[in-house]
Amino acid sequence: MTLAVMALYADGPTTLRNIASWRVKETDRIAAMATELRKLGAEVEEGADFIRVMPLPDAGAWRAASIHTYDDHRMAMCGSLAAFNPAGLPVRIEDPKCVAKTFPDYLETLFAIAQPAGAVPVICIDGPTASGKGTLASEVARRLGYHYLDSGSLYRLTGLAARRAQLEPDPCNEAAISALAQSLPVRFVADRILLGDEDVSDAIRTEAAGMDASCVSALPSVRQSLLNLQHGFACLPGLVADGRDMGTTIFPQAALKVYLTAGAAQRAERRHKQLISKGIPANINSLRADLEARDARDQSRTASPLKPAQDALLLDNSQLTVEESVDQVLRWWQERQPFRTS
Ligand code: DC
Repeated sequence: MTLAVMALYADGPTTLRNIASWRVKETDRIAAMATELRKLGAEVEEGADFIRVMPLPDAGAWRAASIHTYDDHRMAMCGSLAAFNPAGLPVRIEDPKCVAKTFPDYLETLFAIAQPAGAVPVICIDGPTASGKGTLASEVARRLGYHYLDSGSLYRLTGLAARRAQLEPDPCNEAAISALAQSLPVRFVADRILLGDEDVSDAIRTEAAGMDASCVSALPSVRQSLLNLQHGFACLPGLVADGRDMGTTIFPQAALKVYLTAGAAQRAERRHKQLISKGIPANINSLRADLEARDARDQSRTASPLKPAQDALLLDNSQLTVEESVDQVLRWWQERQPFRTS
């Protein structure tokens, strides 16, 4: 099956014979291979026990394609080899996790040795406090198999590190706080966030930690210190990043920028439900006042203020379910891609 894909790069036609058994594996692999190679632009003949593949003569003959995997690990792994095409066209592997049957970290291994032909695909989701960015962005990342950056967590971690170092999060401590931000001993392990060896996932989610984050995030040199850390998240196969300035400052070349909005009342209500469900007492009026204060500070600061990028698409999710918002972003992403899934 590897040869069938590598045949696209050959000087002449390649015929694989005596492969009738391919038809009775995880899927009918002769039919599957022929279908997927044709999507890439190849001419393919198939018979009961053979497949014949014509090479793609030059870069112009290649097509970007979304490779269906038929729940077959070999279709996924072999299909990935089409990403070496000389046109630099993207290849999407649908259901990439099916490689788990024989080589669970196949794609991570491939990405560790291969360089992207162009920019790593990045989707930015920016918006105000409690607009649902995190839920939306992490679900979009999960659906696409992309990495996820919750940039707000980096400011929250910086605020927490400042408190632990007895530093008030205000401008007179800017140099010391930005030095802390520069070398934050942070690790993201599954869905937990570690600062040194301590799991601070819950500690950074309190309202007080949010306020501290908003204060340290207004300090320009703190933002500068967190730049490289954020850029480092843009790895193959792609990244979904959420925050305030993902589209305007951190990833200005991103292929898709979404600016999420929802009324303050709606956002306060969501945050209230979230806290109550975690057993944390909360008052909806003070939550609303807090989030409006935080938005005002985030919008009025001089360093990367919260505002939609010029080329951002606006998504008001006040009346949408999470699933509807996710579907909308995935539709926009699909429209920006040069391939269509059938
Ligand atoms: O998204 P969040 O509530 O976790 O963010 C906490 C604070 O961090 C927020 O008030 C503003 C700041 N922030 C920022 O300035 N830039 C980002 N990209 C993300 C968050």
